[in-house]
Amino acid sequence: MKTENIHPIFDRMLQRKDKEELLKQRGVMIWFTGLSGSGKSTLAIALEHELHQRGLLCRILDGDNIRTGINNNLGFSDTDRIENIRRIAEVSKLFIDTGVITIAAFISPNNEVRELASSIVGKEDFVEVFISTPLAVCEQRDVKGLYAKARRGEIKDFTGISSPFEAPESPTLSLDTSTMDVHEAVERLIELTLPLLQR
Ligand code: ADX
Repeated sequence: MKTENIHPIFDRMLQRKDKEELLKQRGVMIWFTGLSGSGKSTLAIALEHELHQRGLLCRILDGDNIRTGINNNLGFSDTDRIENIRRIAEVSKLFIDTGVITIAAFISPNNEVRELASSIVGKEDFVEVFISTPLAVCEQRDVKGLYAKARRGEIKDFTGISSPFEAPESPTLSLDTSTMDVHEAVERLIELTLPLLQR
């Protein structure tokens, strides 16, 4: 009897390109890196709104939905930060393979973790955006009161205070939210990303 599969189309999992065709967009990773309080989440949210309005489907991953859930067993040691980013990149890959524009907003404090993320996701799909707002400004904003606590020694290994932040060497885009408003920053992001997203 012939063993050849006569319905090959039905027994393979649909591919990324099938999903991208359905959604009429490309799945890409927009990876924000920067200090706590630099504006990563604010810009991620603003960008998502802009893209959504243009009919593009996005998913934001940030501390609120990752560190309280899948990564709620991780702290801020070097090892935990690596594992944090590794899992985030693996989850992102699933979204990207579904054709979804995936926006990650994590400190991701050094080249090692960012390269890890980019190698998991795939360099060709990885857009690195450095939110370069200076430490002094982030600390002055201190939205969550964490810088003050870190200065008082109540939080250890706090990025920028007692744990290093290494700026990316060649980000695709750098945005300093102390010198431009959200509107302007999002315009720059849209200019950069729109051409990459359209199928
Ligand atoms: S990362 O370094 O592993 O990429 P991530 O972006 O997930 O960090 O989490 C950073 C957020 O956790 C900060 O914005 C802050 O609200 C909170 N946080 C709590 N403790 C620390 C710490 N020791 N260093 C940095 N951020 C901390």
